[in-house]
Amino acid sequence: MKASDRVGVRVGRVVFGPGMAGRYPCERGALGGCGTSSRPAVVVSRARGQWARARVATGDDRRTRSGGESGRNPPDLIVNHGSERRGRQLATEGLSGRGSGDAMVVRGGNRLNGLVEVSGSKNAVLALLAATLLADSGKVNLKNVPTGLTDVGNMVRVLESLGATASQPSPGTLELDCSRLSTSEPDPVFVGALRASFLVAAPLLGRLGEATVSLPGGCKIGTRPVDLHLFGLRRLGATVEVGGGSVRLGMAGGALRGADVHFDYPSVGATETVLMAAAVAAGTTTITNAAREPEVEDLGRFLSSLVPGCSISGLGTGTIVVEGSGGQGTRSGGIAHYVIPDRIEAGTFLACGAIAGSDGLVVSGVRLAHVQAIADVLQEMGCEIHSRRSAQEGSGDFGDSSLCDLVVASPGPGALRSVPSIETSPYPGFPTDMQPLLCSVLATSRGKCVVTETVFESRMSACRELRRLGASIEIASGGSSATIRGKGLVGAEVKTTDLRQGVALVVAGLAASGETVVRDLSHVDRGYVGLEAKLAGIGADVTRVAME
Ligand code: EPU
Repeated sequence: MKASDRVGVRVGRVVFGPGMAGRYPCERGALGGCGTSSRPAVVVSRARGQWARARVATGDDRRTRSGGESGRNPPDLIVNHGSERRGRQLATEGLSGRGSGDAMVVRGGNRLNGLVEVSGSKNAVLALLAATLLADSGKVNLKNVPTGLTDVGNMVRVLESLGATASQPSPGTLELDCSRLSTSEPDPVFVGALRASFLVAAPLLGRLGEATVSLPGGCKIGTRPVDLHLFGLRRLGATVEVGGGSVRLGMAGGALRGADVHFDYPSVGATETVLMAAAVAAGTTTITNAAREPEVEDLGRFLSSLVPGCSISGLGTGTIVVEGSGGQGTRSGGIAHYVIPDRIEAGTFLACGAIAGSDGLVVSGVRLAHVQAIADVLQEMGCEIHSRRSAQEGSGDFGDSSLCDLVVASPGPGALRSVPSIETSPYPGFPTDMQPLLCSVLATSRGKCVVTETVFESRMSACRELRRLGASIEIASGGSSATIRGKGLVGAEVKTTDLRQGVALVVAGLAASGETVVRDLSHVDRGYVGLEAKLAGIGADVTRVAME
């Protein structure tokens, strides 16, 4: 990437075909509720690089708690208090202990400048962790892991419940040893904590010939069934029994066999499931209408180096061809893999610069192609976004030269202009995970936009809460589209119900007048490492507090 290359403007209406809403019955596990009360009490984070005991407007006592350094990943895994059942403790757990009742107090009005580093991709690493279950000998070293995320901690606990061991030899690195698995049934408590836990089904089946996995949890953004995962596994010769809240998998003919798998929707998770099964199956698997997301590509690269007898072509396209190893085992010396940057976290900071105003906010360590659709829309709205070579250490897979920094200049709230309409769609379209954040930016921009969500059927909850900040938003009946007319926002107390909705509310608070209190950060902690420290590092006035 040459210095000062400009991100190409390629906006327009990103359109995707028929939505997924209501196509499948709900098959999901329980996820704990998110009850909180509303009284801010305890400061648990820092702003502007300093930890300090403080008192705030409510007059309640605050206590301090250590966290990330200059917006970098804190070197810790979240303690999970969800289960008494696990017999094994993660060697690295226990440093951050953030509480589900925490809230973010955001005082809007600051322009954002300086540099913020993007962490490794949550959704990529969750699939990679599942795939390490195939490693029957040798250790797997995953680098650039956002170890502070609740979802990563819970996924590691899923692996530990199967007999794997995990350690953290250095910040951002996880070392997994899955050579001795003790069961094919992961602890349902941890499986129930996140959607991606279902990804362990295919590698367990491929490795042990059987798996019993309870139905997964995750953000409440739609029904999120697993029928496409099961369809793919059946095609490769798996037997499937669903009952009692679990899926029991076996092998019809004693082994997985390559097959043609055509998805009627390019599901990210189902494509990942079939990739993992196909990598160890005998023969060729061809996946058509496969998901093209970068996280799927990262998993494919990982599998190609982990499983010596497997080769994968077509990653990043709609047709992936996998020559399976036929159960020859995995690389005995172990492997290392550098996780791709988190494109949604990168997009989040682009949205922060756009909404708050910026004269040159640097979002550092990004794969340009991965954020193109996001940058296109923000540029159309009036942001200037330039790319330059990144100083960040790059991955062996993608090479240093492919990482770039994005430099954002934005006039800020009230000065951006809306786009007429936008629809979410699978990669490389505008990502559903950025939709709530874009709604926040649109809510403060001049003009009207119709936003349509086509990937998940219940993902307009950010719009409902944005109205508490005074946003002018009409949500269409059926709830999959909203008409947003930009205006000034006024701080208020709002509540998170899922990860991206929660961060969208924090982002909206950056442009609202006065103080916005975003309650229940447990959802945000699933997917953002040290968000408050990163925001403070670029000039936002944010404080993390515990609610009583
Ligand atoms: N779907 C089915 N049947 C299936 C699988 C999916 O009907 O068997 C439907 C879903 O209900 C949904 C649509 O297909 O309506 C898309 O689901 P997909 O399988 O593509 O998504 P996922 O694998 O469940 C991943 C990310 C999501 C991200 C989506 C789309 C992980 C762990 N999660 O979910 O990330 O929104 O792809 O890009 O990789 C997030 O990070 O906040 C998040 C929700």
